[in-house]
Amino acid sequence: MLFTDVIRKKRDGGELSADEIAFFVKGLADGSVPAEQVSALAMAVFLNSMTAAEAGLLTMGMAASGTVLNWADEHLDGPVVDKHSTGGVGDKVSFLLAPIAAACGCFVPMISGRGLGHTGGTTDKVESIPGYNATPDFSLFRKVVKEAGCAIIGQTEDLAPADRRFYAIRDVTATVESVPLITASILSKKIAAGLDALVMDIKVGSGAFMVSMDRAEELARSIIDTAAAANLKTHAIITDMNECLGETAGNALEIAESVAYLRNDHRESRLDDVVMSLTAEMLVVSGLEGNRNVARQKADDAVTSGKAAEAFDRMVQAMGGPKNFVDTYATHLPKAEFEIPVFAEAEGYLAAVDAFALGNSIIELGGGRRALSDNLDLSVGLSGVTPIGSLVNRQRPLAIVHAASEASAQVAAEMIRAACVVSDSPPAERPVIYENLRGRE
Ligand code: URA
Repeated sequence: MLFTDVIRKKRDGGELSADEIAFFVKGLADGSVPAEQVSALAMAVFLNSMTAAEAGLLTMGMAASGTVLNWADEHLDGPVVDKHSTGGVGDKVSFLLAPIAAACGCFVPMISGRGLGHTGGTTDKVESIPGYNATPDFSLFRKVVKEAGCAIIGQTEDLAPADRRFYAIRDVTATVESVPLITASILSKKIAAGLDALVMDIKVGSGAFMVSMDRAEELARSIIDTAAAANLKTHAIITDMNECLGETAGNALEIAESVAYLRNDHRESRLDDVVMSLTAEMLVVSGLEGNRNVARQKADDAVTSGKAAEAFDRMVQAMGGPKNFVDTYATHLPKAEFEIPVFAEAEGYLAAVDAFALGNSIIELGGGRRALSDNLDLSVGLSGVTPIGSLVNRQRPLAIVHAASEASAQVAAEMIRAACVVSDSPPAERPVIYENLRGRE
């Protein structure tokens, strides 16, 4: 088979056969299809899309291109279930949902990504905990999932290596935003992780991959249907990403907000709604609970009883982090030298935020990546990020910038001011949970 014929077929709008997709996946994994041909096929798919059957074959092929975890040998007394988010600004849900779900009887092997561009990465954030090893071998990963109920680690070399290469090439060829390619990319890794069930958090808005509701629904449907064909039961929730989720954005600052939440000291309401909704959905999709309201109550009880905080502590310690981190986190997390409040030009109601620009201000501070090889300053970012609808004035800033230098703080402050629209009247209320989608059961 000649790969140019495969590219030509897709370029002309044809449907690739199982053999052609298998040839592509093999070429991705062993390097026999060079990057320029991978790019050409990615662009042909971006322009002409894929059928559900093609997306399914690509998903399964990439899932099988490396190690596929099997949890049966661990004899876990609960379902193996995970959540995946399409990414947003201030998205710290994983640090909350994983231990809460663990405290409710789930086992959560969470394999997350590093941040690139305006959204931060869960792996970078968890690495702001001193000593935390986010790249353990599989035997430690399995042990921690079994003993703590959850483990959050970074992407490994051996899980879906075909996707690893494909994603890196898509990232630099403007071909990421394709529904079948995103579907195959996300699901190949989740299937390789050996899950029983999955909940997707599909974010929509100015800080998300999917900026329109139509596109978010299309992605949710594609993921649910492709996962069902692969026997991975998946539900999806479409959530708002038109502003920072919670009150912080930036690696260590988000860990601090997460611990305060788990301690039940402070739960910002929009963040709380997203965490409770997604965790309840995990209990439902995995069959642990039939009723969503009861599931939500169980998730809430796991926080108020301290059981979720205990699960988080167990995970952190088992992964090499400090003992009793939940009680001592303030002394362990890195702190930036400069803290500067950013005030709006005039008093008024915060009416809208360009969340994409807010995320870019973290890159400017050194807390996010322009290229995968960039080193991050984990201490920088934003705290006290004011939610849309609040009155801002000389007493109430838009946010507090945490920076390594006064100069970088001033640049970020300008970006934040430019990203915020202040108006004389309060904006209409917006929900944070838009839609709950399930498979055709
Ligand atoms: N996240 C992924 O893992 N893959 C994509 O294609 C997009 C987001």
